[in-house]
Amino acid sequence: MKIESIKLKNFKAFQCLELKDLPSLAIFTGANGSGKTTLFDVFGFLSDALKNNIRHALQKRGGFKEVISRGQSGSIEIELQFRLEIANKERLVTYHLEIEEENGKPIVKREILRYKRSSYGSPYHFLDFSKGSGYAISNEEDFDKEDEDLNRDDQKLGSPDILAIKGLGQFDKFKAANAFRSFIENWHVSDFHIADARPSQETGYAEHLSTTGENLALVAQYMYENHRDIFDTVLGKMKARVPGISSVSAEPTLDGRIVLRFQDGSFKDPFIANFVSDGTIKMFAYLILLHDPNPHPFLCIEEPENQLYPMLLAELLEEFRLYANRGGQVFVSSHSPDLLNGATPEETYWLVKEKGYTKIKRASEHDEIKALFNAGDQLGYLWKQGYFTGNTPR
Ligand SMILES: Nc1ncnc2c1ncn2[C@@H]1O[C@H](COP(=O)(O)OP(=O)(O)OP(=O)(O)O)[C@@H](O)[C@H]1O
Ligand SMILES: [Mg+2]
Repeated sequence: MKIESIKLKNFKAFQCLELKDLPSLAIFTGANGSGKTTLFDVFGFLSDALKNNIRHALQKRGGFKEVISRGQSGSIEIELQFRLEIANKERLVTYHLEIEEENGKPIVKREILRYKRSSYGSPYHFLDFSKGSGYAISNEEDFDKEDEDLNRDDQKLGSPDILAIKGLGQFDKFKAANAFRSFIENWHVSDFHIADARPSQETGYAEHLSTTGENLALVAQYMYENHRDIFDTVLGKMKARVPGISSVSAEPTLDGRIVLRFQDGSFKDPFIANFVSDGTIKMFAYLILLHDPNPHPFLCIEEPENQLYPMLLAELLEEFRLYANRGGQVFVSSHSPDLLNGATPEETYWLVKEKGYTKIKRASEHDEIKALFNAGDQLGYLWKQGYFTGNTPR
């Protein structure tokens, strides 16, 4: 499953945004406050809304008034298009969500899942809810049936601030709702904090690196014990990229904790994670994240460049690309020209504020940038030279 397009209305700095033909690896750059984190937060918002309800997701972000674009009234709209195989055929499915406030309370004004049943005709609504009630089609795979043969399940939700895909998405028969719910639930944002990953961890069990990376030692131990070949690949890459590192291990301590140990080939005793460099921890964490045997379908990574040696960034970008090619989709935010030097115009977007709201440009849509790239220029250099500006570059 892959996100093809994102349409936003009145979602914070995105008063009106449409991104089409999204690639499996996309890099977003732009000044501080231009909206990179906000773009990723669209998925965080949906994920929070799925776990609880839209009221909770809004409250976490300061409430409806903080989330709706400043100076605007009406509803907040999020629309995502994704490709999905249903009944042995790939469909372009649209999820549409509109949120408004009624008597001071946020409600789902409209929630729709739609896709075309054949190559002609208009998209069919397989799920359509408004203010807590609506219907979903429970025999989606029976495409050849006439409209009247499709089973319409009329449903009432517990409250108008609950997403229909939260409940119905639990059932296998609601194909698109189920797939979309699980995609959003398995979304992951990596905003890695080195200080959180250094200390030893209470003994436990973790298969996936957490958002901030504080369970790094546990995940390393899990990988070592259950996926030794992958762990060895990670180790091989560490050795090649961080001078002096010959081995990494996650070991139990006497007081029942797990600590990461980094062996420098020049010394007998290893260094525990508290005493190795920031970049060493960070590179190890990214390699663990990107070699997850059960990868996230959609990964957002915030500013991976901090603390890393600039020469390693193009390689790290290649790791993101490999992860994306293995079936995941990866969005990266970055301020680093060195990282962008490894990117193609199709993968590169930049954000600019226009009259307070954010617009997003794609490097491949600018002929001059494309021509310079094709002639051998790297995007990071072009960015530094001021080509990534408003509507028309320079
Ligand atoms: N309701 C809103 N309406 C309009 N703009 C908003 C709203 N809420 C927040 N903003 C603006 O959106 C921007 C959020 O920026 P965000 O944190 O996404 O930027 P960023 O590109 O991640 O920056 P950095 O590089 O510093 O991490 C800020 O400029 C903030 O003022
Ligand atoms: Mg940010």
